[in-house]
This record gives sequence, C-alpha cells and structure tokens, in this order.
Amino acid sequence: MEVVEEGKVKIFLERFRKYKGPGKREPGFYNPTLEIDRDINVLFCQYIANKGAKYFLDGLASTGIRGIRIAKEVGGDIEVDINDINSKAHELIKKNMRENNVNANALNENLCILLHKKRYDYIDIDPYGSPIPFIPCIFKGIRRKAYASITATDTATLCGVYKKACIRKYHAIPLRLQAVKEMGMRILLGYIAKQSASYDFAFKPMLSFSYSHFFRIYGYFEKGARKANENIAKIGWIYWDNGWKVSKLDELPTINYAGPLWIGELHDVELVKKLKEYLEERNFKRKKELEKYIDLFLEETELPPMYYESSYVAKDLKVKQPKLNKIIEKLKEEGFEAGRNHFDFNSFKTNAPYEKIKRVFV
Ligand SMILES: C[S@@+](CC[C@H](N)C(=O)[O-])C[C@H]1O[C@@H](n2cnc3c(N)ncnc32)[C@H](O)[C@@H]1O
Repeated sequence: MEVVEEGKVKIFLERFRKYKGPGKREPGFYNPTLEIDRDINVLFCQYIANKGAKYFLDGLASTGIRGIRIAKEVGGDIEVDINDINSKAHELIKKNMRENNVNANALNENLCILLHKKRYDYIDIDPYGSPIPFIPCIFKGIRRKAYASITATDTATLCGVYKKACIRKYHAIPLRLQAVKEMGMRILLGYIAKQSASYDFAFKPMLSFSYSHFFRIYGYFEKGARKANENIAKIGWIYWDNGWKVSKLDELPTINYAGPLWIGELHDVELVKKLKEYLEERNFKRKKELEKYIDLFLEETELPPMYYESSYVAKDLKVKQPKLNKIIEKLKEEGFEAGRNHFDFNSFKTNAPYEKIKRVFV
C-alpha cells in the first residue's frame, strides 16, 4: 500500500497515481489535484460548524479522505458519516479511520438510499463526472436549513464542447464564445437552483470554484416555497450583444445567448473573508496558491457576471494584447469597475461597455 499526507491526515491507498485530469475509476480512487479543494472543504466545514452545523456526511468517500479530514481538522461538536457503495472502498475507509485515530461512522450504502433514511446539516457530493444523479437525493437528506458541496468533472459538457449533452443533461443552452468557464459554472449553478426550486428549496451559492478539470460548488439550501420562488429571479440568460449582457428568465434574448442559467452572485463575501482568516492558522501545503485564489474570489465577487478574455478582445481588434494590469488600471481611471477573476488569469471583469473596453486596447 502507498500513503499520502494531506492536512493532518495520512491516507492509505492501493496505488498512488499523479493524475492531471479526472483519472481512472477504481476502488480507493484518490486524485492529488483536488487537494486544494479538500483544503477549502476543511475551512468551509469549520465555518458551518461554527454556525451550528453538527451532522456531516462525506457521501461518495472513496478513501474517506474528505470525511476523515473533517473529523480530524474541524473543531467543535460534530458527527461525521463517511460513505461509499463499493465494499473495497468501505474497507479502506475503515482502515484509514483507524490509522488516523478518528471518531466517525463508516457506511457502505448507495448514497441516495442513505439520504432517504438519514438527515444531515452538510452533504459532500464528489462523484466521478457529473453530479446529476445525486442532486435530487440531496433534498431528501438535508434538514430545513443545510449545506452541500458538489463537484462536477464533466466540465467539457458544461462549457459547451458537447452542446447537445449540455442541453440534454443540464437543460441549458451553452454558448462557446469566450468566458466559457464562468458560463459552464453558471449552467451548473442554474441547474442546482432549478432542482432546488422543484423540491421547494432556495439555493444560495457560497463559493463557486473552478480549478484544473473540475468545478466545485459550496452552497446553502433553505426549505420554503416563497424563498424558492424568490430564487427563480436569479435564473436568466446571458448573451453577447457588443459586450456581455444579462436578462431575466422571461426576457429571452434573440441572439448569442446561453441559459437558462444562474445570473446571481457566485460567492458569499462573508464566507470568503472567513476562509482567508481561517487559512492564516493552517499549515496546508498549497497555502500560497489558496491565498491567491481567495484574493481572486474576493475581487471577482464585487464585479458583474462574465469576463472578457484579453486575447479575444485583441484578436477582435487585430491589435497586440496589452498587459492585464494596464487594462484594469485604464478602465478604473475611466471610472469603471474592473478586476481579475479566478476562472482565467488572462481575463478581466468590468462594468464598462464593450466600446470603452476596446478603446483601452488601442
Ligand atoms: C470520485 S470518487 C470520490 C473521491 C473522494 N471524495 C476524494 O476526495 O478523494 C467517487 C466515489 O463514489 C463512489 N460511489 C459511486 N456511486 C455511489 C453511490 N451511488 N453511492 C455511494 N457511493 C458511490 C465510488 O465507489 C467512488 O469511490
């Protein structure tokens, strides 16, 4: 067996593989690329534990690393269930719990069946590929006010590489122009919000993280038809009409549009500020990189939906691409809001009209 170390835990695996993408499906699957997200996961769970969340579920656990890290690294009076349908994974989870001396419950169930039997304050859904099969199950297994984190690695579908698959699975039309990552994230958020509304839950994204080959959403769910109705105002369309534009669900654009998708905020500012504060006290291996991301989450959260890729604008105008800092500086000098974002390090968000944006490029 091989051992990996993350945060405060040591995890035993059959075989360590240094995946660059989604990786191979096998019992005891472990992808080192997601360590940065598992760090965020610990900080997020600390935040919600401080707000009173008590019952935590790592629903698709594989080696058990997420649940074991929660049990070991999150302080407070919490109970953690660590579940996987695969019996080899279940044995591995029990071993990893023993090796790390954590007090948690190892379960060996189909997640959706488990969620019909037990209710949680927090559910972690970290599947291979798309989270779609598990999303309706969330609403059976959460309390009236609860949290969930959801991973999607079918980002090519969400970002519109496979348009028909995106429409079929996520019931949204994608647009492949620029800013495809934020578009894909908003399609996923929109899907979760619409599913939530069907089950009379309102959904609020608290952190919407795009990294490498995956998207990860941390969100809050609250039961109530009125709140779910209000939530529908955050579903709409994004379209390109000489710059990015946003419209409501009942205002269907006529050209270059994507949706229905999420047109509301991507992150919760209070959470992001707390993540920054909590991170200072931790010794994560990826701390520096995570700090950079948290600063970007804060920067983009104040800015309008969608970003402009510098290379796209430069190509459109047939000019050389200016430095990102210069573009942002000039837009701000002209009195507009402008800043970086975490989806694409060579792009910017702004409330300036496209004609003004073009002027700072020439
Ligand atoms: C991508 S892996 C989880 C990775 C893990 N969370 C981590 O951070 O390393 C997905 C896991 O879900 C399990 N799984 C798939 N379908 C399931 C189901 N219906 N119920 C419970 N577990 C399931 C698989 O056996 C697999 O171990």
